[in-house]
Amino acid sequence: MTDSEATIDALLSEGRVFEPSEAFRRQALWSDPSIYERAASDPEAFWAREAGRLSWFEPWGDVLRWDPPWVKWFLGGKLNVAHNCLDRHVEAGGGDKVAFHWEGEPGDRRSLTYRELLEEVCRLANGMKSLGVRKGDRVAIYLGMIPELPVAMLACARLGAPHSVVFGGFSAEALRDRINDAEAKVLITADGGYRRGQEVPLKRNADEALRGCPSIEHVVTVRRTGGDHPFVEGRDVWYADLVGDQPAECPAEPMDSEDMLYILYTSGTTGKPKGIVHTTGGYLTGCSTTHRAIFDIHDDDVYWCAADIGWVTGHSYIVYGPLANHTTGIIYEGAPDWPDKDRLWSIAERYGATILYTAPTAIRSFMRWGEEYPQKHDLSSLRLLGSVGEPINPEAWVWYWKHIGGERCPVVDTWWQTETGHILITPLPGITRLKPGSATRPFPGIEAEVYDEQGRPVPPGGGGYLVLKRPWPGQFRTIYKDPERYVETYFSRYGKETYLAGDGAKRDEDGYFWLLGRIDDVMNVAGHRISTYEVESALVDNERVAEAAVVARSDERVGQAIVAFVTLKSGQTGDRVVAGELREHVAKVIGKIARPHGIIFTDDLPKTRSGKIMRRLLRDVAEGRALGDVTTLANEEIVEQIRGMSTEASSQE
Ligand code: WT7
Repeated sequence: MTDSEATIDALLSEGRVFEPSEAFRRQALWSDPSIYERAASDPEAFWAREAGRLSWFEPWGDVLRWDPPWVKWFLGGKLNVAHNCLDRHVEAGGGDKVAFHWEGEPGDRRSLTYRELLEEVCRLANGMKSLGVRKGDRVAIYLGMIPELPVAMLACARLGAPHSVVFGGFSAEALRDRINDAEAKVLITADGGYRRGQEVPLKRNADEALRGCPSIEHVVTVRRTGGDHPFVEGRDVWYADLVGDQPAECPAEPMDSEDMLYILYTSGTTGKPKGIVHTTGGYLTGCSTTHRAIFDIHDDDVYWCAADIGWVTGHSYIVYGPLANHTTGIIYEGAPDWPDKDRLWSIAERYGATILYTAPTAIRSFMRWGEEYPQKHDLSSLRLLGSVGEPINPEAWVWYWKHIGGERCPVVDTWWQTETGHILITPLPGITRLKPGSATRPFPGIEAEVYDEQGRPVPPGGGGYLVLKRPWPGQFRTIYKDPERYVETYFSRYGKETYLAGDGAKRDEDGYFWLLGRIDDVMNVAGHRISTYEVESALVDNERVAEAAVVARSDERVGQAIVAFVTLKSGQTGDRVVAGELREHVAKVIGKIARPHGIIFTDDLPKTRSGKIMRRLLRDVAEGRALGDVTTLANEEIVEQIRGMSTEASSQE
């Protein structure tokens, strides 16, 4: 047993350490465990009570219509998400509260109150109207973490124009595919963004993307980094010029509860990203309820979700949930180690952050950098910590609890997905006894189970497939323009009433859930979803490559690392230079996050007689394990070759 394992073991054996403290429990919004039984006995009534906390222009009729696998929530109800996030707080006298403290990577700062945010949103909404944006039109947003990003999302929500936010780290090609799938009419971007002292060339990427985007009529560009940028006459407009003269009032479009709020693309098992569709009433109910209860949001909290708004975590837990709850949040533009490795802690100290929500990959980096960085700062304002995006190893959990939370903050490990819209499996910090590494229990009103291949519940201790057995309000409604794929991907294995999450899981004797990672060809790299197929397509797109197979290898830093087995066309030799070129090629096609960590050149890939690549063997090679059964191989000789290369997988970082 290593020292850290011994520490964790010791901590775990004193179970009381992870019981909610009396002090926390006393002030917690939810501290009565009977909430689970109450919600389970009538989930619709539970969610309806929560939906009643929002402001509706017209009341709903039925709470739920479930025509498996299709669901609708709060039927006939009318509301507007921007109105719920902004106007109603200002009307109630809360306009002077800070909505966001924002800090740019170079050190510039800006705080926006709810009133200021509302006015800015209205101005942009009016500006977008002047460009012809109407209810139902799709708007693409390609921005870094600057205040204009939530402003743009809320302006879209105000007009009823679904947004499609594309992560600023994605390439021109990835942006183009997403714009075209959504047939977006307007793109909102910036000249650039800052990341680790470098400029991210957003507008240049956008211009490259737009050479193949016939649906785009206008491009709105925020000035962030400065410099000259070619503008296309009649298409391009600076953000400042567009909003400058616009009135700071703009009516919020009454939206049906089931109208689309946004599309967000995520990786599936094929090369084509899935446009996950979220709607209005149920989504906002789910986000605001879970945010309030799980992060125990009080009026004086300073809440920091240190994710990027380009992913669903930012949509639900930087923008929509927190603003619906009138929370003060923090947004930081850049890298956590810029200019030094204490950047996050200096920000947390400056604004007196009380809640921090981040990903295990980040926590493992903090761990590697050492506790001297958080120790330089006063983090005593923190009272609650959260984790999301991938399974958190107990060692990282305990380090987070100890060195960031000062042994006083509960850690909520929250499981959910782009598809689920909001957190579904999680502790409630004033109720749940925590076990490091476990997301614990389904949120009240949620019914989860672990199934075997036949759809039978797996007894405690055994692994199986995570499923959800009844609808929840924030779940996605379909895949944009591809309802068949929605049914096929999520509701075919166990029938139309059972949602297949795509994750492996097991339950323990206490009924706690332990998430085991993806069971499909989706990798989770630093908390980001990337499909093996996407990376393979990007590789074979390179002229040197004949064939490629991509697998994930477990990695201490990023959870899963990408390993590519590549066969080159004849006459090509695989060396370090070519490996570097291929990595850059993948970055260009998808984005830097998808660059393979290791590339292994091989004369052939192990295949079955029917020509199927045996990924299982490749995974064994990538993990440095003994090779499994090779008897079904058509080309056994290749096994010898790749076996000889097994060390290269880990050395070629
Ligand atoms: C996949 C969803 C949810 C927002 C960020 C990722 C993995 C997420 C956890 C967790 C273990 C987790 C799952 C899931 N995942 N949270 N707390 N413990 N695994 O959203 O990109 O849609 O990815 O992330 O594998 O399926 P996403």
